[in-house]
Amino acid sequence: MILYEHLQVNELGHLTIGGLDTVELANQFGTPAYIIDEDVVRASCRTYRNAVQKHFGEQSYPLYASKALCFAQMYRIAAEEGLGIDCVSGGELYTARAAGFPAERIFFHGNNKTDKDISDALDMGVGTFVVDNVEELGALSCAAASRGIKQRILLRITPGIDPHTHKAVVTGNIDSKFGSAIATGQAMEIVKKAIESDGVELVGLHCHIGSQIFDIEPFEDAAKIMVSFIADIKRELGYEIKELNLGGGLGVKYTQYDREIDYAEAIEGISQIVLHACEQNGVATPRIFIEPGRSLVAAAGITLYTVGSVKEIEGFRNYVSVDGGMPDNPRYALYQSQYTALIANRAADPATFRATIAGRCCESGDLIGEGMDIQRAQRCDILAVLTTGAYNYSMASNYNRIPRPPVILVKDGKARVAVRRETYEDIIKNDVL
Ligand code: LLP
Repeated sequence: MILYEHLQVNELGHLTIGGLDTVELANQFGTPAYIIDEDVVRASCRTYRNAVQKHFGEQSYPLYASKALCFAQMYRIAAEEGLGIDCVSGGELYTARAAGFPAERIFFHGNNKTDKDISDALDMGVGTFVVDNVEELGALSCAAASRGIKQRILLRITPGIDPHTHKAVVTGNIDSKFGSAIATGQAMEIVKKAIESDGVELVGLHCHIGSQIFDIEPFEDAAKIMVSFIADIKRELGYEIKELNLGGGLGVKYTQYDREIDYAEAIEGISQIVLHACEQNGVATPRIFIEPGRSLVAAAGITLYTVGSVKEIEGFRNYVSVDGGMPDNPRYALYQSQYTALIANRAADPATFRATIAGRCCESGDLIGEGMDIQRAQRCDILAVLTTGAYNYSMASNYNRIPRPPVILVKDGKARVAVRRETYEDIIKNDVL
């Protein structure tokens, strides 16, 4: 096993995913390629769904934050597993609907929905809008009222939690482009406005404190603050908030140094905090939702590349260049995110070669990682980067006019294309020649 159970080494010394030889997958589908183990995605969906229903009640379900990995069949998987989804753009909504995802289970996010986004989403019958600001509230209320609808909404609220220094800085991130802060009084203002707006029905509140968080405490703190705000709304405005969406953000193991989180246990912990806080504040327990993205899909995915060159610069470092890079995985360039990588065709060999894995773009910051311990590499080797299921394909670009890799789904020992590899024709299809 390498990091996760679905990644093993076979008798040829090749890395396997979902029982399939990655060297054969690279031959069959070419590189770079994203390979996603569908059984692992489905298992994570079930873990979340079972825990959410057990601890938050039968009417609750997890909402898949689809920005993490978005393509038509992913929405189909989420629908089949009984999840709702979080969409943040017209493009995500369009993909979800094209895949037949039920509109009433869509939560439409975003801090700057255009009039067109709003009207398209209303036309689709999107179940819930998560309203970010007063301008959006006004525009949505008008658009809904003109259609004779009362649109179900949640309001995005900033509880003022800094997930990394939460103990010291309880109002740390009031300074955010998202939502309305409780501490500034803007949250109560938008609640009042929403109650008075004709075209919307305020059913609940939403907060999201961050991403790749291992500590459960900031979630619990956020839950307590939100419940206490629900009590304030009841006391000051006599209005009952029925739903509370606590966002996503639970962390994922990318390297051997990361912890593995027991998501079911985390959900149980959060539910106990909410129940207790409701009791203390004298409010009815709301229907609770959570919105995981990364932790549903990251571990399921790997990216396969072909090594092109191995440059050993004496006294400096070793560069292993691969046929992808920041266009398919911008996360090291953006956040110095850490990954685990290995030579898939010699996966059983010791990882004694310290390498900087470089992409093929025309800039030196195009790296997948630095100081990565892999097997000795040579041209034509297959390099696998693990835990790339989240925020890789969904953040991919065509920088340097490099076509995006395909997404291959592995299930029951078979592999199939879920998103085709882009072609050069795709790349110039909107150019006016
Ligand atoms: N809900 C809301 C409102 C969000 O903004 C996000 C993530 C999620 C849920 C899901 O969070 P997760 O469970 O995936 O942590 N591109 C960055 C991550 C950005 C996360 C944005 N919002 C990365 O590659 O690390």
